[in-house]
Amino acid sequence: MIDLHSHILPGMDDGAPDWNHALEMARMAAADGIRAMVCTPHCVAGIFENRREAVLEAVEQLRTRLGDARIPLEVHAGSELRMDPDLGERIESGQFLTLNDTGRYALIELPPEMIPPHLENVFWDLGSRGVTPIIAHPERHPRLMHDPEPLYRWVESGALTQITAASLTGRFGSRVRRFSVRLLEHRLAHILATDSHGPHARTPNLSSAYMEARAILGETAAMEMIESIPRQVLEGKLASLPRPIPFRERARRRSFFGRLSSLFCGTCG
Ligand SMILES: [Fe+2]
Repeated sequence: MIDLHSHILPGMDDGAPDWNHALEMARMAAADGIRAMVCTPHCVAGIFENRREAVLEAVEQLRTRLGDARIPLEVHAGSELRMDPDLGERIESGQFLTLNDTGRYALIELPPEMIPPHLENVFWDLGSRGVTPIIAHPERHPRLMHDPEPLYRWVESGALTQITAASLTGRFGSRVRRFSVRLLEHRLAHILATDSHGPHARTPNLSSAYMEARAILGETAAMEMIESIPRQVLEGKLASLPRPIPFRERARRRSFFGRLSSLFCGTCG
């Protein structure tokens, strides 16, 4: 498995506080079957100013320590970028990191509680610079939980989404879990990642969520979410993605099959 979202780099944000915690997280990830992990510290103006050079240097240090400790985990540099109007410019100028520094995919988190009015302009700007946005954990965003239609629109215009493993296994509550399942069913979830923050809470576990995804979508589609799509992102290649299913179309399909079944099974109701 490949984990595209983790806060394993120590002292850079609210993730691992020191190297001991970081190595403990790496051991847990490797034991879970994760072979590669992208280190994605938060990048939020005025709070976590994690510039490209600093992240690259920290990843290099982690790589050395993993080798010394003989932990079989491949690590790559990235960041979790807060949605800002000048994101494209700051990526292109080399201030901010894309995933694995390929310049092709940017992991982006929305501000909590609101959808910025400039969002679609930023996505368009990123697209014109050859950068595809990956929306981090939309399943936990209250505005999208209330109305997921914008997410469908963004995915239709080329954005990818990353669902957090613990959302699908229920750690964030039943409402988040139900919405995560709904996004999977509508093929609006492309990547499963841990968004791990430590070895005790929000841990680097991906296998349990994979099992959940497999039960919902089947083995091939679930594997795509933890291996082939993340690998294509890691390599900076164009990912082949499933077509999303509009919310209304699913509702229509259900009502059609509902009518059909009542036609053939009068007592079924
Ligand atoms: Fe995160």
